[in-house]
Amino acid sequence: MQKQVSNFHLQVLETEEEVGKAAADFVAAQVRQKPESVLLLPTGRTPLDMYRNLVEMVKSGNLDLHYVHTFNLDEFCGLSSDHPGSYAQYMREALFDHVAIPEDHTHILNCATPDPKAEAALYDAAMHALGGVDLAVLGIGVNGHIGFNEPGSSFSSGTRVVPIREETREANAFLFDGIIDEVPKEAMTVGIATIMESRQILLLATGESKADVVYGMIYGPVTPELPASILQKHPDVTVILDREAASKLPQVK
Ligand code: GLP
Repeated sequence: MQKQVSNFHLQVLETEEEVGKAAADFVAAQVRQKPESVLLLPTGRTPLDMYRNLVEMVKSGNLDLHYVHTFNLDEFCGLSSDHPGSYAQYMREALFDHVAIPEDHTHILNCATPDPKAEAALYDAAMHALGGVDLAVLGIGVNGHIGFNEPGSSFSSGTRVVPIREETREANAFLFDGIIDEVPKEAMTVGIATIMESRQILLLATGESKADVVYGMIYGPVTPELPASILQKHPDVTVILDREAASKLPQVK
């Protein structure tokens, strides 16, 4: 089912596997149309099926990712890039170890630098130098965050170091054998203004725990208290949901 709800192109599928497949098809269509696409990429549980499907497409010769440039949305501070909980490691396991994207085409934020502000500015500059982001793929946190832009983040924020909220640390504990105390308290994230500059946005959400924030993102006020609500102001956003994440939407009930 594909619907237009305010500015959102909304697709509701039965299962999270179907969301992963549809998301991979969406990314693949972008890359086929522009092989040197600049992609802003998420981590978390939600996009794992999307990455699995993309890897399959590449392995079966149906997709070539050789020319894309990838930028990850965020990374924890205080972990080495080979720490099993780091998003750098997540990306290697989910995508980079399985497909031929030249290493210098992949970008992940690094807090472990003497000057994180300069690192953040360089990251945004690198995206601009490549012509800007063609497609940003986003998940959404249980509190409505995008990237690590937690509630209260300024809509004009650029890439920066941010504190991570408790509920978000809990949600990320699966990367740390379930041990919340091991989840870092700070991260570096691409800012909301940077995300909004992307030409196209694809947001994925699955599971009942996302139903309230998905409703708020689409129908609620545009407020920093629910960072994803700013997407109401973007001209080209596609939202792909499973039935549970869509369960609070009036058109779907
Ligand atoms: C993390 C990431 C976000 C991600 C969100 C949702 O905190 N920083 O970029 O979108 O959580 O994660 P999940 O897909 O596991 O629910």
